[in-house]
Amino acid sequence: MSENKKPEKLSAVKGMNDILPADAPLWELFENTVQSVLKSYGFQKIVTPIVEDTSLFARAIGAVTDIVEKEMYSFTDSMNGDQLTLRPEGTAGVVRAVIEHNLVYEGPKRLWYKGPMFRHERPQRGRYRQFFQIGAEAIGFTGPDVDAEMIMLCRRLWDDLGLDKIRLEINSIGNAEERNAHRADLIAYFEANESLLDAEARRRLHANPLRILDTKNPAMQDLVNNAPKLLDYLKEESLAHFNGVRKILDHNNVQYTINPRLVRGLDYYNRTVFEWVTDELGAQGTVCAGGRYDPLVEHIGGKPTPAVGFAMGIERLIELMKLSGEPQEPNQCDVYMVHQGEEAQMQAFVLAERIRDAGLDVVLHCAAASGAGSFKSQMKKADASGAAYAVILGEDEIANKTAAVKDLRGKEGETVQQASVPFDQVVDYLVDEIVGAHDHDHDHVHYHP
Ligand code: HAM
Repeated sequence: MSENKKPEKLSAVKGMNDILPADAPLWELFENTVQSVLKSYGFQKIVTPIVEDTSLFARAIGAVTDIVEKEMYSFTDSMNGDQLTLRPEGTAGVVRAVIEHNLVYEGPKRLWYKGPMFRHERPQRGRYRQFFQIGAEAIGFTGPDVDAEMIMLCRRLWDDLGLDKIRLEINSIGNAEERNAHRADLIAYFEANESLLDAEARRRLHANPLRILDTKNPAMQDLVNNAPKLLDYLKEESLAHFNGVRKILDHNNVQYTINPRLVRGLDYYNRTVFEWVTDELGAQGTVCAGGRYDPLVEHIGGKPTPAVGFAMGIERLIELMKLSGEPQEPNQCDVYMVHQGEEAQMQAFVLAERIRDAGLDVVLHCAAASGAGSFKSQMKKADASGAAYAVILGEDEIANKTAAVKDLRGKEGETVQQASVPFDQVVDYLVDEIVGAHDHDHDHVHYHP
C-alpha cells in the first residue's frame, strides 16, 4: 500500500446487517420478553454450534429444497477437507445435539435457542443472508397437546409484545403414506395441466411436487388452488391428531384459518404445520413458522422420537414492533462521572466502582480523540447519556473530600438541584435519590441490586 493512499472503506457482506446501539434496547426488550415467555412454559436453553457438517442439513432439511439446493453457505475446511455449512436453521443442530448427548432418552424435553442463521437468498425487505431466529423444540412428545401448547406460547408472546396484527394459519400434511397417495394424484393433475407450469414447477414435478403448491407465481395461483388437497387424503390417526390440536385451540379461543396449501419449505415435517403471518411487512410476512417433525430424529440416526417446534425471525418482529409504535427506550445509565485533574480522576474510578457495587449503572468519562474534555463538554456528554445524575469531581471537591451531585432530570425552567456530598456518603445519597424515585419515574431508573 502506498503511504499517501487512503485505505479503502470496507462494508458488511451483502444481506448481512449490523444491529446498531440505537436498536439495541428494542432487541433487548424483544429477547427478554421471549425468554420469559419460554421460561413460563418450561423451556430450557440449548446452544449449538453455528457450523455443522454439510451432510446434517442435506439429510435433515431434504436434498430437493431451496435451502439445500441453492441457499447454503457451504465450504471446505482448508485444514482437513471437511465439508461444512453455516447453519441455515436451528432444528437440525438441536436434534443432532439431543441424539449425540442422549438427552431425549431421559424423557421428553422442551428446548429453545437463539442465534444467527445463514441463507444465500436474494436480499429484500425482511429477507437477509444473515438473520436471527429464536426457536423452540419440544422433543419426545407424541400428542396434539404440545402442538397446541406451542401455538399458544406464540399467542402469549404477541400479546406481551403488544402485536395484534399477526394471524395464524394451520394445516396438517399427514404422514408419508398419506402424502404418497396425494402425491400420485397431484403429479397426475399437474401433468394434465403441464402447459400451465413454470420452469421451476416442471423441474419439481417428479422430485417434490408438494412444493409446487408453495409457488409465489401469480400465473399459477388458479392451478394450485384447484389442485388435490392433502387434507382430503388424511386417514383416521392423522385426522384425529389434527382435530385434537384444533379442539385445544378452539377451547382456548385461539383464532386461526386452515390453509390447505401450507406445506412449509423444509422436508422434515409431518402432521401439524403452522405459520404466523402479518400483512404489515410486505412480501416477507411470515414472522414465525413451524410444525411437527416426527421422522427427523430417526432420520438422522437417533431412536424414533416424535417432536414439534417453531422458529421466529427476529428482524421481522422487530420491524413489526417499530411499526406498531412500540416506544423506543433510549440507551440510559444512572450516573455519569465528570472529573478534572489527575487526583479527581483517581477518586472518580474509586467512587464509580463503589456506586456500581450498589447496583447502579455508571458511565465514567474517559479521554476521547478530541482530548480529555473540559467540564463543559463533559457535562454535555452527561446530559446526552440519559443519566439521572452527574457526579462531579474537580480540584475544590478533592480538597473538601466532597462530590458535587447534580440532578440531570430537572425539567426546563426548574432550578437545578445540586448537592455537595461527602465522598463516603455519595453511594447512599444516590441510592436514596434514584431508588427512592423508582415508584415515580420508571424512565430513568436502572437500579438492579
Ligand atoms: P423457516 O420457515 O425456514 O423455518 O424459518 C422460520 C422463520 O425465520 C421465518 O418464518 C422467518 O420469520 C425467518 N426467516 C427465514 N428466512 C429468513 C431470511 N432470509 N431473512 C429473515 N428472516 C428469515 C425454520 O427455520 C424451522 N427450523 C422452524 C422450525 C423449528 N420447525 C420446527 N422447529
